[in-house]
Amino acid sequence: MPVLEVKDLWVSYTRGGIRAYALRGINMSLERREVMGVVGESGSGKSTLGHAVAGLLPPNSIVERGSITLEGKDLTKMRDLFRVRGTGVFVIFQDPMTSLNPIMKVKDQLAEALQVREERESLPSPFIRWSRRRSLDNRTEREFLEALTRVRFRSPQEVLEKYPHQLSGGERQKVMIAMAYILRPKVLVADEPTTSLDVITQAQVMKMLLSLREEQGTAILLISHDVMLVSKLSDRMMVMYGGMVMEEGSSEELTKSPLHPYTKGLQASVPTQFKGEGRVKQIPGYPPNIFSMPQGCPFHPRCEMAMEVCRKVTPQESRRGEHNVSCHLYG
Ligand SMILES: Nc1ncnc2c1ncn2[C@@H]1O[C@H](COP(=O)(O)OP(=O)(O)O)[C@@H](O)[C@H]1O
Ligand code: SF4
Ligand SMILES: [Mg+2]
Repeated sequence: MPVLEVKDLWVSYTRGGIRAYALRGINMSLERREVMGVVGESGSGKSTLGHAVAGLLPPNSIVERGSITLEGKDLTKMRDLFRVRGTGVFVIFQDPMTSLNPIMKVKDQLAEALQVREERESLPSPFIRWSRRRSLDNRTEREFLEALTRVRFRSPQEVLEKYPHQLSGGERQKVMIAMAYILRPKVLVADEPTTSLDVITQAQVMKMLLSLREEQGTAILLISHDVMLVSKLSDRMMVMYGGMVMEEGSSEELTKSPLHPYTKGLQASVPTQFKGEGRVKQIPGYPPNIFSMPQGCPFHPRCEMAMEVCRKVTPQESRRGEHNVSCHLYG
Protein backbone atom coordinates (compact mmCIF):
# COMPACT_ATOMS: atom_id res chain seq x y z
CA MET A 1 0.00 0.00 0.00
CA PRO A 2 1.42 3.43 -0.86
CA VAL A 3 2.19 5.61 2.16
CA LEU A 4 0.69 8.62 0.40
CA GLU A 5 -1.99 8.69 -2.26
CA VAL A 6 -3.44 11.74 -3.96
CA LYS A 7 -6.54 11.19 -6.07
CA ASP A 8 -8.18 13.65 -8.46
CA LEU A 9 -7.09 16.64 -6.36
CA TRP A 10 -8.50 20.04 -7.32
CA VAL A 11 -7.40 23.11 -5.35
CA SER A 12 -8.50 26.67 -6.03
CA TYR A 13 -7.35 30.09 -4.85
CA THR A 14 -9.58 33.13 -4.61
CA ARG A 15 -8.16 36.57 -5.31
CA GLY A 16 -10.17 39.76 -5.74
CA GLY A 17 -13.38 37.74 -5.66
CA ILE A 18 -12.24 35.50 -8.53
CA ARG A 19 -11.66 31.80 -8.01
CA ALA A 20 -9.14 29.89 -10.14
CA TYR A 21 -7.67 26.40 -10.03
CA ALA A 22 -4.02 25.86 -9.14
CA LEU A 23 -4.40 22.06 -9.13
CA ARG A 24 -6.63 20.38 -11.68
CA GLY A 25 -7.08 16.68 -11.04
CA ILE A 26 -3.72 15.60 -9.64
CA ASN A 27 -3.13 11.88 -9.15
CA MET A 28 -0.01 10.55 -7.51
CA SER A 29 1.20 7.90 -5.12
CA LEU A 30 4.30 7.53 -3.06
CA GLU A 31 5.71 4.32 -1.61
CA ARG A 32 7.73 4.05 1.58
CA ARG A 33 11.41 4.87 0.98
CA GLU A 34 10.61 6.37 -2.43
CA VAL A 35 11.79 9.74 -3.71
CA MET A 36 9.30 11.35 -6.07
CA GLY A 37 10.62 14.40 -7.88
CA VAL A 38 8.14 17.14 -8.78
CA VAL A 39 9.39 19.43 -11.53
CA GLY A 40 7.99 22.21 -13.69
CA GLU A 41 8.46 25.91 -14.22
CA SER A 42 7.41 28.49 -11.67
CA GLY A 43 3.61 28.68 -11.30
CA SER A 44 2.99 25.04 -12.28
CA GLY A 45 1.38 24.21 -8.93
CA LYS A 46 4.29 22.33 -7.31
CA SER A 47 4.20 24.20 -4.01
CA THR A 48 0.40 24.08 -3.89
CA LEU A 49 0.65 20.29 -4.09
CA GLY A 50 3.32 20.24 -1.37
CA HIS A 51 1.27 22.51 0.88
CA ALA A 52 -1.89 20.46 0.30
CA VAL A 53 -0.10 17.24 1.28
CA ALA A 54 1.27 18.92 4.41
CA GLY A 55 -2.07 20.48 5.38
CA LEU A 56 -0.57 23.95 5.01
CA LEU A 57 -2.73 25.52 2.31
CA PRO A 58 -3.38 29.26 2.87
CA PRO A 59 -6.78 30.58 3.98
CA ASN A 60 -7.75 31.79 0.48
CA SER A 61 -7.55 28.23 -0.89
CA ILE A 62 -10.20 25.53 -1.17
CA VAL A 63 -9.77 21.81 -1.72
CA GLU A 64 -12.58 21.54 -4.23
CA ARG A 65 -12.40 17.86 -4.96
CA GLY A 66 -10.33 14.75 -4.39
CA SER A 67 -8.50 13.06 -1.56
CA ILE A 68 -5.06 12.98 0.04
CA THR A 69 -4.61 9.74 1.93
CA LEU A 70 -1.75 9.14 4.34
CA GLU A 71 -1.64 5.53 5.49
CA GLY A 72 -5.37 5.22 5.00
CA LYS A 73 -6.33 8.55 6.65
CA ASP A 74 -7.86 11.23 4.43
CA LEU A 75 -6.03 14.46 5.31
CA THR A 76 -8.53 16.67 3.47
CA LYS A 77 -11.09 15.70 6.09
CA MET A 78 -8.90 17.00 8.92
CA ARG A 79 -9.58 20.57 9.88
CA ASP A 80 -7.24 20.81 12.84
CA LEU A 81 -3.77 21.81 11.65
CA PHE A 82 -1.99 20.30 14.61
CA ARG A 83 -3.54 16.93 13.93
CA VAL A 84 -2.40 17.13 10.34
CA ARG A 85 1.11 17.97 11.51
CA GLY A 86 0.96 15.04 13.88
CA THR A 87 0.03 12.63 11.12
CA GLY A 88 3.58 12.46 9.97
CA VAL A 89 4.08 14.85 7.06
CA PHE A 90 7.00 17.22 7.52
CA VAL A 91 7.94 20.08 5.23
CA ILE A 92 11.28 21.66 4.47
CA PHE A 93 10.96 24.94 2.59
CA GLN A 94 13.51 26.90 0.58
CA ASP A 95 13.82 29.36 3.46
CA PRO A 96 14.10 27.49 6.77
CA MET A 97 13.25 30.72 8.62
CA THR A 98 9.62 30.24 7.57
CA SER A 99 9.53 27.07 9.70
CA LEU A 100 11.98 27.82 12.50
CA ASN A 101 10.84 29.98 15.35
CA PRO A 102 13.28 32.94 15.56
CA ILE A 103 13.01 33.22 19.33
CA MET A 104 13.53 29.54 20.10
CA LYS A 105 16.88 27.88 20.59
CA VAL A 106 17.64 24.82 18.47
CA LYS A 107 17.08 22.53 21.48
CA ASP A 108 13.58 23.94 21.96
CA GLN A 109 12.71 23.46 18.31
CA LEU A 110 13.91 19.86 18.50
CA ALA A 111 11.88 19.43 21.69
CA GLU A 112 8.76 20.53 19.83
CA ALA A 113 9.45 17.94 17.15
CA LEU A 114 9.83 15.29 19.82
CA GLN A 115 6.57 16.35 21.42
CA VAL A 116 4.72 16.06 18.11
CA ARG A 117 6.19 12.62 17.53
CA GLU A 118 5.29 11.41 20.99
CA GLU A 119 1.77 12.70 20.66
CA ARG A 120 1.52 10.95 17.33
CA GLU A 121 2.76 7.74 18.83
CA SER A 122 0.50 8.40 21.85
CA LEU A 123 3.25 7.75 24.32
CA PRO A 124 3.26 9.64 27.58
CA SER A 125 5.41 12.64 26.71
CA PRO A 126 7.93 14.02 29.16
CA PHE A 127 7.64 17.28 27.20
CA ILE A 128 4.05 18.02 27.99
CA ARG A 129 5.33 19.20 31.34
CA TRP A 130 8.68 20.31 29.97
CA SER A 131 9.61 23.92 30.43
CA ARG A 132 12.30 25.74 28.47
CA ARG A 133 14.13 26.81 31.57
CA ARG A 134 14.67 23.25 32.71
CA SER A 135 17.56 21.23 31.35
CA LEU A 136 16.96 18.31 29.02
CA ASP A 137 16.96 14.85 30.52
CA ASN A 138 19.92 12.69 29.50
CA ARG A 139 18.13 10.35 27.15
CA THR A 140 16.53 13.23 25.26
CA GLU A 141 19.74 15.19 25.05
CA ARG A 142 21.51 12.15 23.66
CA GLU A 143 18.84 11.80 20.97
CA PHE A 144 19.18 15.48 20.03
CA LEU A 145 22.98 15.31 19.88
CA GLU A 146 22.78 12.18 17.77
CA ALA A 147 20.40 13.86 15.31
CA LEU A 148 22.68 16.91 15.03
CA THR A 149 25.71 14.67 14.53
CA ARG A 150 23.92 12.80 11.75
CA VAL A 151 23.57 16.07 9.86
CA ARG A 152 27.30 16.63 10.33
CA PHE A 153 27.43 19.39 12.92
CA ARG A 154 30.94 19.32 14.38
CA SER A 155 29.98 20.73 17.77
CA PRO A 156 26.36 19.67 18.30
CA GLN A 157 26.41 20.66 21.98
CA GLU A 158 26.96 24.31 21.01
CA VAL A 159 24.33 24.15 18.26
CA LEU A 160 21.67 23.13 20.80
CA GLU A 161 22.04 26.51 22.51
CA LYS A 162 21.92 28.59 19.33
CA TYR A 163 19.10 30.69 17.90
CA PRO A 164 18.31 30.35 14.17
CA HIS A 165 19.83 33.76 13.33
CA GLN A 166 23.16 32.56 14.72
CA LEU A 167 23.30 29.86 12.04
CA SER A 168 24.01 30.06 8.30
CA GLY A 169 21.34 29.16 5.73
CA GLY A 170 22.88 25.73 5.20
CA GLU A 171 23.11 25.11 8.96
CA ARG A 172 19.45 26.03 9.41
CA GLN A 173 18.49 23.57 6.71
CA LYS A 174 20.57 20.95 8.55
CA VAL A 175 18.64 21.73 11.75
CA MET A 176 15.43 21.12 9.79
CA ILE A 177 16.74 17.71 8.73
CA ALA A 178 17.75 16.97 12.35
CA MET A 179 14.14 17.82 13.29
CA ALA A 180 12.99 15.31 10.70
CA TYR A 181 15.25 12.66 12.28
CA ILE A 182 13.49 13.28 15.57
CA LEU A 183 9.99 13.64 14.17
CA ARG A 184 10.29 10.49 12.02
CA PRO A 185 7.72 11.62 9.46
CA LYS A 186 6.19 9.12 7.05
CA VAL A 187 6.46 11.66 4.27
CA LEU A 188 8.88 14.53 3.90
CA VAL A 189 7.97 17.32 1.52
CA ALA A 190 11.10 19.21 0.46
CA ASP A 191 10.07 22.32 -1.50
CA GLU A 192 13.13 23.79 -3.25
CA PRO A 193 15.20 22.83 -0.15
CA THR A 194 18.55 23.84 -1.60
CA THR A 195 17.66 26.62 -4.02
CA SER A 196 19.10 29.39 -1.85
CA LEU A 197 22.31 27.50 -0.93
CA ASP A 198 25.72 27.42 -2.59
CA VAL A 199 26.55 24.39 -4.73
CA ILE A 200 28.64 22.56 -2.11
CA THR A 201 26.10 23.01 0.69
CA GLN A 202 23.36 22.02 -1.78
CA ALA A 203 25.04 18.66 -2.36
CA GLN A 204 25.54 18.10 1.39
CA VAL A 205 21.91 18.89 2.23
CA MET A 206 20.64 16.62 -0.55
CA LYS A 207 22.87 13.80 0.66
CA MET A 208 21.44 14.19 4.17
CA LEU A 209 17.87 14.05 2.89
CA LEU A 210 18.69 10.82 1.10
CA SER A 211 20.32 9.38 4.26
CA LEU A 212 17.10 10.11 6.12
CA ARG A 213 15.28 8.01 3.56
CA GLU A 214 17.84 5.19 3.88
CA GLU A 215 17.83 5.17 7.67
CA GLN A 216 14.16 5.74 8.43
CA GLY A 217 12.42 4.68 5.23
CA THR A 218 10.97 8.18 4.82
CA ALA A 219 9.14 8.79 1.55
CA ILE A 220 10.22 12.10 0.00
CA LEU A 221 8.38 14.47 -2.30
CA LEU A 222 11.25 16.47 -3.76
CA ILE A 223 9.95 19.65 -5.35
CA SER A 224 12.31 21.65 -7.55
CA HIS A 225 12.49 23.67 -10.73
CA ASP A 226 15.89 22.01 -11.29
CA VAL A 227 15.19 19.06 -13.61
CA MET A 228 18.79 17.83 -13.65
CA LEU A 229 19.09 17.75 -9.88
CA VAL A 230 15.78 15.97 -9.44
CA SER A 231 16.39 13.41 -12.17
CA LYS A 232 19.62 12.36 -10.48
CA LEU A 233 18.15 12.03 -6.99
CA SER A 234 14.63 10.73 -7.46
CA ASP A 235 13.26 7.27 -8.23
CA ARG A 236 10.25 8.63 -10.05
CA MET A 237 9.42 12.04 -11.41
CA MET A 238 6.27 13.96 -12.19
CA VAL A 239 6.30 16.92 -14.53
CA MET A 240 3.69 19.55 -13.70
CA TYR A 241 2.30 22.37 -15.80
CA GLY A 242 -0.82 24.49 -15.39
CA GLY A 243 -1.85 22.55 -12.28
CA MET A 244 -1.81 19.22 -14.10
CA VAL A 245 0.58 16.26 -14.28
CA MET A 246 1.90 16.32 -17.84
CA GLU A 247 4.05 13.22 -17.50
CA GLU A 248 4.99 10.79 -14.77
CA GLY A 249 7.30 7.79 -14.70
CA SER A 250 10.64 6.47 -13.52
CA SER A 251 13.27 9.21 -13.52
CA GLU A 252 15.49 7.13 -15.76
CA GLU A 253 12.72 6.67 -18.35
CA LEU A 254 11.70 10.31 -18.28
CA THR A 255 15.30 11.43 -18.73
CA LYS A 256 16.19 8.90 -21.44
CA SER A 257 12.98 8.93 -23.43
CA PRO A 258 10.54 11.69 -22.50
CA LEU A 259 7.24 11.59 -24.38
CA HIS A 260 5.44 14.81 -23.50
CA PRO A 261 6.42 17.94 -25.50
CA TYR A 262 6.71 19.87 -22.21
CA THR A 263 9.08 17.29 -20.65
CA LYS A 264 11.16 17.40 -23.82
CA GLY A 265 11.16 21.20 -23.74
CA LEU A 266 12.28 21.31 -20.11
CA GLN A 267 15.15 18.94 -20.80
CA ALA A 268 16.28 20.76 -23.93
CA SER A 269 16.46 23.98 -21.92
CA VAL A 270 18.96 22.56 -19.43
CA PRO A 271 22.59 23.29 -20.24
CA THR A 272 24.73 20.19 -19.73
CA GLN A 273 28.37 19.42 -20.28
CA PHE A 274 27.40 17.38 -23.35
CA LYS A 275 25.63 20.21 -25.11
CA GLY A 276 27.35 23.18 -26.67
CA GLU A 277 25.90 26.64 -26.00
CA GLY A 278 23.87 26.49 -29.21
CA ARG A 279 22.18 23.22 -28.22
CA VAL A 280 20.33 24.78 -25.31
CA LYS A 281 16.85 25.74 -26.42
CA GLN A 282 14.49 27.65 -24.17
CA ILE A 283 10.75 26.95 -24.40
CA PRO A 284 9.27 30.06 -26.04
CA GLY A 285 6.84 32.18 -24.02
CA TYR A 286 5.90 31.96 -20.35
CA PRO A 287 3.84 29.67 -18.14
CA PRO A 288 0.23 30.81 -17.74
CA ASN A 289 -1.29 32.52 -14.74
CA ILE A 290 -4.06 30.46 -13.12
CA PHE A 291 -6.39 33.46 -13.46
CA SER A 292 -5.96 33.41 -17.24
CA MET A 293 -5.48 29.73 -18.00
CA PRO A 294 -5.83 28.86 -21.70
CA GLN A 295 -8.62 26.51 -22.71
CA GLY A 296 -7.76 22.94 -23.68
CA CYS A 297 -4.19 21.84 -23.04
CA PRO A 298 -2.58 24.47 -20.79
CA PHE A 299 0.67 24.11 -22.75
CA HIS A 300 -0.84 24.65 -26.23
CA PRO A 301 0.21 28.32 -26.71
CA ARG A 302 3.86 27.25 -26.33
CA CYS A 303 3.76 23.80 -27.92
CA GLU A 304 5.33 23.15 -31.34
CA MET A 305 3.16 20.07 -31.76
CA ALA A 306 -0.16 21.76 -30.94
CA MET A 307 -3.14 20.61 -33.00
CA GLU A 308 -6.66 21.97 -33.33
CA VAL A 309 -7.99 19.68 -30.59
CA CYS A 310 -5.34 20.96 -28.15
CA ARG A 311 -6.92 24.43 -28.13
CA LYS A 312 -10.32 23.07 -27.11
CA VAL A 313 -10.04 19.83 -25.17
CA THR A 314 -8.01 19.28 -22.01
CA PRO A 315 -6.02 16.05 -22.47
CA GLN A 316 -6.68 13.18 -20.08
CA GLU A 317 -3.96 11.15 -18.42
CA SER A 318 -3.22 7.90 -20.24
CA ARG A 319 -0.73 5.07 -19.88
CA ARG A 320 2.06 4.70 -22.46
CA GLY A 321 4.48 1.90 -21.58
CA GLU A 322 6.07 2.98 -18.32
CA HIS A 323 4.78 6.56 -18.55
CA ASN A 324 1.60 8.34 -17.58
CA VAL A 325 1.15 11.15 -20.02
CA SER A 326 -1.47 13.88 -20.58
CA CYS A 327 -1.23 14.87 -24.23
CA HIS A 328 -3.43 14.47 -27.30
CA LEU A 329 -0.47 13.00 -29.19
CA TYR A 330 -0.84 9.94 -26.99
CA GLY A 331 -4.54 10.04 -26.11
N1 LIG B 1 -2.11 32.22 -2.00
C1 LIG B 1 -2.34 32.32 -3.31
N2 LIG B 1 -3.34 33.07 -3.80
C2 LIG B 1 -3.59 33.15 -5.12
N3 LIG B 1 -2.88 32.51 -6.05
C3 LIG B 1 -1.86 31.75 -5.64
C4 LIG B 1 -1.53 31.61 -4.25
N4 LIG B 1 -0.47 30.77 -4.15
C5 LIG B 1 -0.15 30.40 -5.40
N5 LIG B 1 -0.97 30.98 -6.31
C6 LIG B 1 -0.96 30.79 -7.77
O1 LIG B 1 -1.12 29.41 -8.03
C7 LIG B 1 -0.28 28.98 -9.10
C8 LIG B 1 0.61 27.85 -8.64
O2 LIG B 1 1.51 28.37 -7.69
P1 LIG B 1 2.57 27.44 -6.95
O3 LIG B 1 1.89 26.25 -6.42
O4 LIG B 1 3.30 28.30 -5.99
O5 LIG B 1 3.53 27.01 -8.15
P2 LIG B 1 5.07 26.59 -8.17
O6 LIG B 1 5.45 26.14 -6.81
O7 LIG B 1 5.14 25.49 -9.20
O8 LIG B 1 5.83 27.78 -8.62
C9 LIG B 1 0.47 30.23 -9.56
O9 LIG B 1 -0.19 30.76 -10.67
C10 LIG B 1 0.38 31.16 -8.37
O10 LIG B 1 0.39 32.50 -8.78
S1 SF4 C 1 -1.92 18.18 -25.88
FE1 SF4 C 1 -1.35 19.27 -27.73
S2 SF4 C 1 -0.62 21.27 -27.02
FE2 SF4 C 1 -0.66 19.90 -25.27
S3 SF4 C 1 1.37 19.11 -25.17
FE3 SF4 C 1 0.21 17.63 -26.34
S4 SF4 C 1 0.48 18.26 -28.47
FE4 SF4 C 1 1.16 19.98 -27.20
MG1 LIG D 1 7.02 26.79 -5.55
